[in-house]
Amino acid sequence: MPTETSRTTVSMEEIVALCKRRGFIFPASELYGGINGFWDYGPLGTELKNNLRDAWWNDMVRCPPAGPDGNALSIVGVDSSIVQNPRVWEASGHVGGFNDPMVDDRETKARYRADQLTVFTIERLDTGAHVGGYFAAEGADDAQLIATHKKSIASLIRKFDLETCGYRLVPVPGALDDSTIRGATLAPGAKERGTLTEPRQFNLMFKTYVGAVQDEDSVAYLRPETAQGIFLNFKNVLDTMRVRIPFGIAQIGKAFRNEVTPRNFIFRSREFEQMEMEWFCHPDEAPQWYEFWCDRRRTWWQSLGLSDENLCMRSHDDDERAHYAKTGCGTFDVEYRFPFTAPGFGELEGVAHRTDFDLKQHQQHAGVKLEYFDQERNERYMPHVIEPAAGLSRGVLALICEAYTPDPDRPSKVYMKFNPRLAPIKAAIFPLVNKDGMPEVAARLHDELRANHPVQLDVKQNIGKRYARMDEVGTPYCFTIDADTLTDQTVTVRHRDSLQQERIGLDHVAAFLDERISG
Ligand code: GAP
Repeated sequence: MPTETSRTTVSMEEIVALCKRRGFIFPASELYGGINGFWDYGPLGTELKNNLRDAWWNDMVRCPPAGPDGNALSIVGVDSSIVQNPRVWEASGHVGGFNDPMVDDRETKARYRADQLTVFTIERLDTGAHVGGYFAAEGADDAQLIATHKKSIASLIRKFDLETCGYRLVPVPGALDDSTIRGATLAPGAKERGTLTEPRQFNLMFKTYVGAVQDEDSVAYLRPETAQGIFLNFKNVLDTMRVRIPFGIAQIGKAFRNEVTPRNFIFRSREFEQMEMEWFCHPDEAPQWYEFWCDRRRTWWQSLGLSDENLCMRSHDDDERAHYAKTGCGTFDVEYRFPFTAPGFGELEGVAHRTDFDLKQHQQHAGVKLEYFDQERNERYMPHVIEPAAGLSRGVLALICEAYTPDPDRPSKVYMKFNPRLAPIKAAIFPLVNKDGMPEVAARLHDELRANHPVQLDVKQNIGKRYARMDEVGTPYCFTIDADTLTDQTVTVRHRDSLQQERIGLDHVAAFLDERISG
């Protein structure tokens, strides 16, 4: 089947290979053949992820943006349990409604998310009439399709010149729910038609048991979102922190979803990290705050180096909205153009108006009053919630994709153009040769810098190879100690992106780095 071409310049295979080669991300349990949907972060991936996490926490909690009136917003943090009382997930709607429709292929034994497996048919451009009986799922084998279909359109499919022959492929909405269409559909990798099963609802929460006895009474769940831990602590925070509406509660942490089809590297995995903030406000002010957060979240990702052309905002259609956002002013996604979605975009963060859904549900299910008394308005009400919910793991992937810059003129052939604030290694220190007093000067500089920044001292191999290694892991600055350093106390600074070199005083290196990393 003809599928959308991926971003032409960079392939995911190259990116995944660099992540493995340079210690960013490894398949989990690799020694045992891996485990689908789980990933381990290596030394550099851990630094990168921590830097993104810290940037979010700093810009959201420690130093949040100014509100529309110019005053700094008030946002506090929590760190709640991954396992909560299972009644939490009944109240939140996850036990009943956090499902994905799943179909199995009886022939190939593959499993798909029904809403992600597009079925195509062919229609005539002039009349819009369907070519009888042609139904193929995205990724179905063209040769097989031709073998199982009438000869007249076989050559058209083979050459992908449908349009010049007056036909086009069109998706068939809801195809898998229709047993006749399902019976005629060729699935990816299948030889026979009609091998896909009817879609079944599948709950995405991981189940576990708490305590020694494993029965229905000891069932618990790994949290599928960090958000509920915030709602559970809304009253605790109100009672202890002297916060007043509007204010926010933020949390970063692991979430778990037993995804039907984990895919695209760390984009959709079964264990991942989220950075979520619930903004509690008066119901009348929710629409303005919703706009405010949509705008701020896009700008924030840009400030980290994601380019404008690779970012877009997309409003959810009514049928896509999560159960908690149904009656609100909606959900906007901040989307990024990943290589596997290009020329389209994939979700990076959702900004949802969750209304008072969650607080009301917990009030009702727990039987505890969660309303807020607003002294300024002299009014008691249930606050509405605007929720910017970002993926930390997905953010790491976006940063890696954006940074990956092929450059045939460099020995490394590729360099990672990370924003210095996020780069896993901020600077490298190289003695030009490993003798004549240079290693000692380099070691002293390394000691001075590492107090404040992750820096690396590298004394081995020729200087070109050392630069190449740093380019590939995205180190923005390299300081080289050479013979001149010993006489005039200056070092060479090499800038990763421009490849320009300049000399600065040895005693200015720390200030040089501080300025560029924090600025
Ligand atoms: N509390 C709302 C919530 O969880 P979501 O859109 O389901 O909303 C928020 O998730 C973000 O978490 C997404 O925008 C995405 O970045 C990330 N995310 C969700 N599922 C993921 C998965 N299976 N793997 C990696 N990241 C995921």
